[in-house]
Amino acid sequence: MTAADDTTAPYDSARTTKLAVVGAGAVGTTLAYAALARGTARTVALMDVNREKVDAEVLDLQHGQMFVPQADIIGSDDVAVCEGADVVVVTAGAKQRPGQSRLDLAESTVGLTRTIMPGLVRVAPDAIFLMVTNPVDVVTYAAQRFSGLPRERVLGSGTVLDTSRLREAIARHAGVAVGNVHAYIAGEHGDSEIALWSSASIGGVPLRDWTGLAGRPALGEELRSRIAADVVQSAYRIIEGKGATNYAIGLAGTRIIEAVLKDEHRVLPVSSYLDDYYGIADVCLSVPTLVDRHGATEAIEVPLSDGELRDLRASAERVRAIQRRFGL
Ligand code: LAC
Repeated sequence: MTAADDTTAPYDSARTTKLAVVGAGAVGTTLAYAALARGTARTVALMDVNREKVDAEVLDLQHGQMFVPQADIIGSDDVAVCEGADVVVVTAGAKQRPGQSRLDLAESTVGLTRTIMPGLVRVAPDAIFLMVTNPVDVVTYAAQRFSGLPRERVLGSGTVLDTSRLREAIARHAGVAVGNVHAYIAGEHGDSEIALWSSASIGGVPLRDWTGLAGRPALGEELRSRIAADVVQSAYRIIEGKGATNYAIGLAGTRIIEAVLKDEHRVLPVSSYLDDYYGIADVCLSVPTLVDRHGATEAIEVPLSDGELRDLRASAERVRAIQRRFGL
């Protein structure tokens, strides 16, 4: 009998996975909670400069262990807690205040990224890095620069969350399950993001041919415009009402992490480095991209209308202008 056949072989600890979350604010702790509830990783490490806060968050998460898949939950204010992580998620940094745009945060969060990336790479040299901190496209570009890692190993949550907002709205209006809607938000995770209506579909029917279920509206130009505008404004509305967004971005981050840790080869609109995407280059932006254990490995050139291509290029220029302002 070979070891492979031996069902009593000891559990191969090398197969366990470790997720490190940097930043124990609303987003980081919600992402850690979502990852634990879904059994995303065998070890979840939480790091924050506020030791009292991170200890309390870890304790609270540990107390839920009976109800979720087995996992070790650890935390510290020392970067060493991220040692050997397979995925490191960075959520630390200034959060949007009511009415403030994500790009307004760039000065503080690019500086923070410059400070923390070398230490994180030192303790987790083989990790895939997922940037969530806003403005996430500029922060992802900066993290690639300051980490010195191959670009595909540093990606951003991008418009995965916005795409979820778009699909939920389409599904709600059409009267179908969200899983039956395929549509992407692309570009900046921010005010210049665009809905790729020309490649959207419901239940395999191209949206342009969707005439609506009985008693339900077709999704005409006016409704599509309203839905797209609502997606762009979503975060502002939530921040106005509760001070921050956390649940959906926590779930979006966990979905991306699972695509990496489970080598899913999943197509997600993560923010990654574009090098000649319809001529767009030297910028991190969200387009449908293959995500697997190597990170963001291939941007997929989905068909774009002339207007979508125009708006995507404008979005790229808006993000690149911020990159240039901070010497990236
Ligand atoms: C939002 C934050 C994550 O869109 O930028 O909710």
